[in-house]
Amino acid sequence: MKEAKRYTITAALPYANGPLHLGHIAGCYLPADIYVRYLKGKGEDVAFICGSDEHGAAITLRAKKENTTPQHIVDTNHEIIKNAFHDFGIQFDIYHRTSSKLHHETASQFFKDLNDKGSFIQETSEQFYDQEHEQFLADRYVTGTCPKCSSEGAYGDQCEKCGSSLNATDLINPKSTLSGKTPVLKETSHWYLPMNKHEEWLKEWIETGKLNGVQQHDPNEWRKQVIGQCKSWIDNGLQPRSITRDLDWGVQVPVEGGEGKVLYVWFDAPIGYISATKQWAADNNKNWEDYWKNDKTELIHFIGKDNIVFHGIIFPIILKEQGDYILPTNVPANEFLNLEGDKISTSRNWAVWLHEYLEDFSGRQDELRYVLTSIAPETKDSEFTWKDYQARVNNELVAILGNFINRSVVLTHKYYNGIVPEPGQLNEVDQTALTIIETTKSKIDKSLSEFKFRDAQVQAMDIARLGNKYLADLEPWKLIKTDEERVKTIMNIALQISNALSFVFDPFLPKTCNKLRSILNNNSLELKAGHQINAAELLFQKIEDEAIDAQIEKLKATTVKQSNPKAKPMKDEITFDDFTKIDIRTATILTAEKHPDADKLLKLTVDTGIDVRTVVSGIAEHYNPEDIIGKQVSILMNLAPRKIRGIESKGMILMAENNEGELSFVSPEKAMANGGEIR
Ligand code: MF3
Ligand code: ZN
Repeated sequence: MKEAKRYTITAALPYANGPLHLGHIAGCYLPADIYVRYLKGKGEDVAFICGSDEHGAAITLRAKKENTTPQHIVDTNHEIIKNAFHDFGIQFDIYHRTSSKLHHETASQFFKDLNDKGSFIQETSEQFYDQEHEQFLADRYVTGTCPKCSSEGAYGDQCEKCGSSLNATDLINPKSTLSGKTPVLKETSHWYLPMNKHEEWLKEWIETGKLNGVQQHDPNEWRKQVIGQCKSWIDNGLQPRSITRDLDWGVQVPVEGGEGKVLYVWFDAPIGYISATKQWAADNNKNWEDYWKNDKTELIHFIGKDNIVFHGIIFPIILKEQGDYILPTNVPANEFLNLEGDKISTSRNWAVWLHEYLEDFSGRQDELRYVLTSIAPETKDSEFTWKDYQARVNNELVAILGNFINRSVVLTHKYYNGIVPEPGQLNEVDQTALTIIETTKSKIDKSLSEFKFRDAQVQAMDIARLGNKYLADLEPWKLIKTDEERVKTIMNIALQISNALSFVFDPFLPKTCNKLRSILNNNSLELKAGHQINAAELLFQKIEDEAIDAQIEKLKATTVKQSNPKAKPMKDEITFDDFTKIDIRTATILTAEKHPDADKLLKLTVDTGIDVRTVVSGIAEHYNPEDIIGKQVSILMNLAPRKIRGIESKGMILMAENNEGELSFVSPEKAMANGGEIR
């Protein structure tokens, strides 16, 4: 491993089209923050970079739906996200945004430079075009039936039901989300990154960590799933990937022919790491290039698993093409966090939102940090449940860590007025305890350096466990009556352990450790005899059942329950005026007979209260004519008359349909006069 002089640590820029949930935190931001605190604790030179990802068609689409501007959407969410990070103790050196001028300039220049170097190809292709709105449709703007799972309402870039990534042209029965009409195909020209040209060096770099024969990183230090995903992409053959879009929100394509086009959000967003570093450097009197162009610098991207190819393949290609930039030394991606037995879903609102947690459990950010690290999805998907949260807080933070510190501090006040006692001769038990603590400390260090945050936190808790056991075994509260000298040694050691805990837990529980250091009145790794400590204060409070029940209730109540997953999605909203144009009434079937020329049709006469009319209805496979005479039904009165297989039909009998295509009349629940309006 090369000598590390500086670290550039990035955490995936969150989309500013909604708030953060616990899955984002557990998968990306918390491990990044722990790692940075660990590095900074060792005195390393670190730039911890993040910001809002504010471009992309998902944001413009949402703005359209909510009848507002993309800028308004991102402004609102940027604030919510930034504050939630701050309150949760995620301490970026800068939290920037991609709608900033500096970012637009940086991304634009990047594109120009690469374009000048001939790193891109330009190609025309057919894309969906909305004729009514006279505009090309980004993939997100097209919906239709998913070709993979047949569910409706899939987006042109992705089906959110089955997770497949799609091209708009793959959709069955595509519709423009702007006009609702079927879009047409029309030629447009875009820039592409010919990823296929980069296969060779990428493969070597991913598999061996070598670039041009020079060792850049040790691939054994990368997580298996990261190497696995990158390799499988490369092995399947890389394709040219379009990096521009026909859209009016984003970084404008700064070269000839780029009018009305912007950079693809996944092209500009990672460059956001660089523009954020520039801003931070300018604000802090640093040279940003030290953090991006110096091969003594380690660049580490924290991300969730859905971002692996962008950080393991696409962004490295872009960086390498530029020439002077370093490539990541690691991309510690996490798997997904599930919630109460189900996948987190923002569209179904099956999520715990960080900002809401921070409101409901004000001041208890470390409790959540602890639990999310305990269950971090480092190597496989994991699960958050409120009961487990409660158990870990009560049985571990309160009963082990909090209890040990409290005992140590309270007894020190009781026996020595809060002054750290002078230890006597240490016996074997004492020696062993101190040795274990030292070896555990180096284990924690090693785990953290290997991005094994879960293990590291367990090891830190082992120190508190050991402290608890030390006091429980030696019982100073009994010994004080018979051997005062011995108790001095025991309490001195208990306080040494407490002090050690205030450091080993620091990356995980920063707020608690600050409090602990202020209780111990000490900021140094050493705690000297004769030192005065401050009064005891509880570090953690028990979480009561009521609080947990309330959260479970809230989750269930706000979740959109879809009792029939096969039901079609709702149609576009209409106004009440639209509705009043429709005339639906109660009517009674007077006669029914098979249509002479069609197996599926019945010819009915119905009394609608204001007339008796003939209606042809496609229900012959569901009802026998003789069974429905006298039945009260609902009829759409003012549908324009039309000839169905030679018989003129006036209006339409309304039918309910189930998943199997079975039909049923929609009848009033009690007998009503014919001609009654249905509203
Ligand atoms: N906004 C993306 C997401 O949430 C992540 C962007 S990471 C960056 O999935 F590298 F592009 F910035
Ligand atoms: Zn699907």
